[in-house]
Amino acid sequence: TAKLQTVAKSAGKLYFGTATDNSELSDTAYTAILDDNTMFGQITPANSMKWDATEPSQGQFTFSGADQIANLAKTNGMLLRGHNCVWYNQLPSWVSNGGFTTAQLTSIIQTHCSTLVGRYKGQVCTCPSHSWDVVNEPFNDDGTWRSDVFYNTLGTSFVEIALNAARQADPTAKIYINDYNIESPGAKSTAMQNLVKSLKSSNVPIDGVGLQCHFIVGETPSSASLIQNMNAFTALGVEVAITELDIRMTLPSTAALLAQQKTDYTTVISACQAVSGCVGVTVWDWTDKYSWVPSTFSGQGAACPWDQNFQKKPAFDGIVTGF
Ligand code: XIL
Repeated sequence: TAKLQTVAKSAGKLYFGTATDNSELSDTAYTAILDDNTMFGQITPANSMKWDATEPSQGQFTFSGADQIANLAKTNGMLLRGHNCVWYNQLPSWVSNGGFTTAQLTSIIQTHCSTLVGRYKGQVCTCPSHSWDVVNEPFNDDGTWRSDVFYNTLGTSFVEIALNAARQADPTAKIYINDYNIESPGAKSTAMQNLVKSLKSSNVPIDGVGLQCHFIVGETPSSASLIQNMNAFTALGVEVAITELDIRMTLPSTAALLAQQKTDYTTVISACQAVSGCVGVTVWDWTDKYSWVPSTFSGQGAACPWDQNFQKKPAFDGIVTGF
């Protein structure tokens, strides 16, 4: 039976990976599949590297959860994707409450990014590279900048402050900006492309753009639009990665929905396969048992390639077919 990392590598991609979370690691039936590095060659911590988890009060860093995931990746010989340094969500109130001068918030971002990224410097050093989602979700869906403490205090400069701090802290890490609804052409993707152009023209370090890909069964963008959009990014001199793939449906799941979901997974994987600058694919957890979808999108779920009993769904074969 096919293993996803093996299939992705044979197809010339760097990895096939998954998000995971600390609370899941005590489930031995779960870890039996997670720890198979022929199935998953890359790990993203779903929550434990976020600001609220790593610097809950100013200057007090707590890395126990993050270290557990980083060590799991290291032990299993998997790439690690750091997630994330600067995001409006899951921020501790000491940051989101604001009231900072520009100098203060600049220093707060620099300290947070350099301490967090520096912590895992050179991690998984036997692997070719690892990545950081340094800036997460900076744009609104209409392509305007999200109104948060970072933008409202520093304007767009918070992006380069964070990217520069991350680059300095681990020069070998690929540094990314990551967002959703930038997977096909449109205002938000254009805004991200314009940001990449402006960073490149002012020599701010940026290696990649993460396409989250939280899709809906039957509404997944076409292969042509995914490819056109990825090509628009790689033409700017950055790589792309599919960073948080899942394809949800309105419950209950039916045979027809599962069949469409399989088709949709193939569409996404084959688009990445068609673009050499698309380096790899990460699913936002591999089993419906631990998917974030039902708690976030009411009445929806069954978004992952394995069901909640760890049985492979048609989507699993859809992924294999796509490579
Ligand atoms: C989600 C986690 O999976 C959940 O457990 C948490 O409650 C909320 O955040 N985009 C991102 C991820 O960049 O960090 C989010 O992860 C999903 C959407």
